Amino acid sequence: ARVAVLISGRGSNMAALLYASRADDCPYDVALVTGDKPDAPGLALAEAERAPVIRLDAKSLGADYWEVLHSALEKAGVDLIALAGFMRIIPSAFVARWAGRIVNIHPSLLPKYKGLHTQQQALDNGDTITGATVHLVTPELDSGEILGQVEVAVLRGDTAETLADRVLIAEHQLYPRILGRYAARPFDAGWIEQQ
Ligand code: GRF
Repeated sequence: ARVAVLISGRGSNMAALLYASRADDCPYDVALVTGDKPDAPGLALAEAERAPVIRLDAKSLGADYWEVLHSALEKAGVDLIALAGFMRIIPSAFVARWAGRIVNIHPSLLPKYKGLHTQQQALDNGDTITGATVHLVTPELDSGEILGQVEVAVLRGDTAETLADRVLIAEHQLYPRILGRYAARPFDAGWIEQQ
């Protein structure tokens, strides 16, 4: 399967997906790395790794952004979209066009702690276990079908930062594994022409 990775920032999960895709038996290729911020550090990393990169500026494109993005994905022959630190709410019309083809990674054990500041909430609630979730994207934030999760222990003395750092290590293992499993199912050729 051909995967587009959408990022807004440093792109460490994007890098994990890209490096995993270099294994001979990986069921997906990274066909495109793009996002909403043209200066996202992860885009420079993807370019250095010779992944195809398109720099889109959602701010300057305004209402046209989602249409421009859709065309870029279509042109790259993308089967699946992997959100990896993509910090933008996706309009339901876009989700509908890519129904069942957008996955996201979220740093909590969903359905716990949707949205931001997940590790601080885990600490505030005295949780002893946190983790990360890979899920399908639906119009409602962080609420689609769960494809896979990984647990991470909370240590005494953890701050939101130290906890997030350890959850990130677990994310980098989880995301390629779950995306690989999801990408291994058959994708009907020519589906996008019907959209
Ligand atoms: C990760 O913690 C991910 O779970 C969340 O945003 C962060 C992105 O980090 N959605 P990176 O850009 O992949 O390094």
